[in-house]
Amino acid sequence: MSALLEATIVATARPCPDVVQIDLLPHGEGIVFEPGGHIDVHLPLEGGVQVRSYSHVAIGPDRSLRIAVRLLPDSRGGSRAMGRLKPGDRIRVSAARNDFPLSFAAPRHAFLAGGIGITPILAQARALKDAGRDFTLHYCVRDRASAPWIAQMQAEFCAAFTLHDDSAQGLLDARAFVGALDPETELYMCGPHPMMAAVKAAWSAAGRVPARLRYESFANSGATDSVPFTVQVAETGAEVAVRRNQSLLDALLMAGQPVMYDCRRGECGLCKVEIEEIRGEIDHRDVFLGDAGRAAALCACVSRLRGGHALIRIDSISHGPHV
Ligand code: FES
Repeated sequence: MSALLEATIVATARPCPDVVQIDLLPHGEGIVFEPGGHIDVHLPLEGGVQVRSYSHVAIGPDRSLRIAVRLLPDSRGGSRAMGRLKPGDRIRVSAARNDFPLSFAAPRHAFLAGGIGITPILAQARALKDAGRDFTLHYCVRDRASAPWIAQMQAEFCAAFTLHDDSAQGLLDARAFVGALDPETELYMCGPHPMMAAVKAAWSAAGRVPARLRYESFANSGATDSVPFTVQVAETGAEVAVRRNQSLLDALLMAGQPVMYDCRRGECGLCKVEIEEIRGEIDHRDVFLGDAGRAAALCACVSRLRGGHALIRIDSISHGPHV
């Protein structure tokens, strides 16, 4: 893991009512701005430290990093804590990997962002613009009032920018969207799970080259609202209650269960738990498990049950720590 650094909040703003934009200046040299990269913020929450990842949106002339956080009504605590920050406050951060690097080698680029998924996409689009490259940027929003930076992007990217307002136009037609892209296009997307799942299915159905679809997910993007549920851990017998605004991973960790994790975004699979028995349905929100793996496993950092109970096995207890 990267070294922890202190960072000072230098500015905050509200680009729309439920998004807070935060400029933070890390002390020292440990964090490098990369389009698509993110930092980890270590927050004191619920008697422990919890880590939240936020994409870099921009870097200022003073080397301060801009991130943005959607303030969720059913926050697990992270967005509430971030929303309270004010200039002069200090937080602890560490650099994270860039799992969503932008390739300048692609012949054509398109970007698709949904909601707060615009944060890494905006940094990538600006990098291409600065390099004098052509691209298109499609921004899907629930409604105009809930989306940050629309006017700014319209001014910045002009004809390359398209806004898709779900409240007026309905959900994005993923097939039509993919079908309209030149076959040589490399598509970068970040947004809620249902949008990304539809585009991935359309990409595959259209016979597009899998490597030309690059994406990054974020948590809290299920198809349905989160509700409480319970699990029992087969290896230890522990009964664990998961609150509506808490991830299964956090509930397991708080109950002292040694589950391993890394990305906390449903991408690496390290937190996977196997389902031995279930009363209820799984709400898969990861991008790691394929269809075959989904019947009997879930990624505890983002996926959950739609109520009910499950008997689970924790990979890192049953099979030992991954290395
Ligand atoms: S920690 Fe990576 S998928 Fe859960």
